[in-house]
Amino acid sequence: MQSALSKLSPHPVMLAPMVGLTHYAVRRGVQRFLPEGARVLWPTEMLNSRRIPSQHVNETPEINFMDREFGLCPQLLANEEEFIRLSVRRLEEWGASAIDINMGCPVEKALKHNYGVALMGDPGYAREVVRFAVETAKVPVSVKLRAGLESNDFDYLLGFVEGLFEAGASWITIHPRTAEQKRKGLADWNLIRRLKERFRSEGRPVEIIGNGDVQCFEDVRELFQEAECDRVMVGRAMMAKPWLIRNEPEPDPETQGAWYGEFLLTVLREMREHYSWDAGRRRMLFLIVWGKPWVEFGEYLRGRVQAAADYDGMEAAIRRFFGQPQRIQKRSILQT
Ligand SMILES: Cc1cc2nc3c(=O)[nH]c(=O)nc-3n(C[C@H](O)[C@H](O)[C@H](O)COP(=O)(O)O)c2cc1C
Repeated sequence: MQSALSKLSPHPVMLAPMVGLTHYAVRRGVQRFLPEGARVLWPTEMLNSRRIPSQHVNETPEINFMDREFGLCPQLLANEEEFIRLSVRRLEEWGASAIDINMGCPVEKALKHNYGVALMGDPGYAREVVRFAVETAKVPVSVKLRAGLESNDFDYLLGFVEGLFEAGASWITIHPRTAEQKRKGLADWNLIRRLKERFRSEGRPVEIIGNGDVQCFEDVRELFQEAECDRVMVGRAMMAKPWLIRNEPEPDPETQGAWYGEFLLTVLREMREHYSWDAGRRRMLFLIVWGKPWVEFGEYLRGRVQAAADYDGMEAAIRRFFGQPQRIQKRSILQT
């Protein structure tokens, strides 16, 4: 029987959920690079389950679901039964194809309010969170998590993940760093492999999406080989290299530069149509800030875009910058 992940998202490479980045306009920009006919689930930013029940779809850029026909997997930040159930129903009404639960967010607020990665400190309760969602949802429920809270304790992680699957999670995504590491140090791809092997050896194959530090096509291949994961999810690098979604060798740096320019113009077009100038401006700057480590004169681009007074000025600045050939680097020092 075909798994839920294979049915909804057979394509090997996926975009990672990122606050302030994986909103509608950026998703549209990345979707341009998906090979014709390929199907993949698209993330939203993490959405607060306390707010979703009283919101209306498309009310804000975070809950702009206009591309739902492409298969959206919104991500919920949640830990209370009532809000989970209400939010799951609401997201389904809005057209979600699957729902992901965030158990990886390490910011202070998440730890204080016991959601995000804080749930990794309480395996029993994390299971309940999944159970509440699965009992309510008609669509598959997944979880995105980290290696743990403070230390790489494989047995603890294994037990935690077992609990999630027993509660009905259809697949999980692992960003193999601890909460304490945030985005520092290296993602431990080996941890993903060990998890996959362990479940396989016990005759319980599960689907795991691997994530962390992928910057180029070769990294995608390496993560598949090293971790034997089922999909590779890319976050930061996809903001400069949306073509990583293709899972194909990348062209020369100048062609990539031209593609990056097209990506920004697509995102800008969607922003102009659907977001206020204020909302669009903030998000475009954030997108460029996260993409610039790979862009040869990225800091200059950021300055020009920041100086724009309206959408026309921003488009002119982007077009002027890409009027000269630009180059995208294969790898960069990852921002934390
Ligand atoms: C700006 C930013 C915002 C993020 N927001 C989220 C989020 O809302 N939900 C989530 O699960 N992960 C979030 N992440 C983590 C990414 O999804 C991903 O796990 C992490 O960046 C490692 O992957 P990468 O090396 O490919 O970027 C965020 C990362 C960044 C850089």
